[in-house]
Amino acid sequence: CSSQTTPASGDWQAVGTRAELDKTGQLLAKNSPAGPVLVVGTSKAGNLTAVDPTCTHAGCTVAWKAEAKKFACPCHGSEFGVDGKVQKGPATNPLKTYAAKIEGDSVVVKP
Ligand code: FES
Repeated sequence: CSSQTTPASGDWQAVGTRAELDKTGQLLAKNSPAGPVLVVGTSKAGNLTAVDPTCTHAGCTVAWKAEAKKFACPCHGSEFGVDGKVQKGPATNPLKTYAAKIEGDSVVVKP
């Protein structure tokens, strides 16, 4: 389990607002200060997950499939779990993950 929160070291980056996230249960920030970030979850449920949605196969942007609780790549069909781990190839490397939380009205992430 590598996603434990560590004491804040000041490099949390805002990637969007709580309202944006809660509207659809996901928030894609293509040009956040931390790079592309896809946050899924809602502020109420407090179950935020954030990944770099750049597919590790050839760089397409993966989409969150809420029903299946996984990320799916539209290009060649790779699938990744909420933890970023590969569930189905051709990708072999996991998605990069971020710690994510709500801070005031903002959604913030940290590599
Ligand atoms: Fe995602 Fe090929 S770029 S499966």
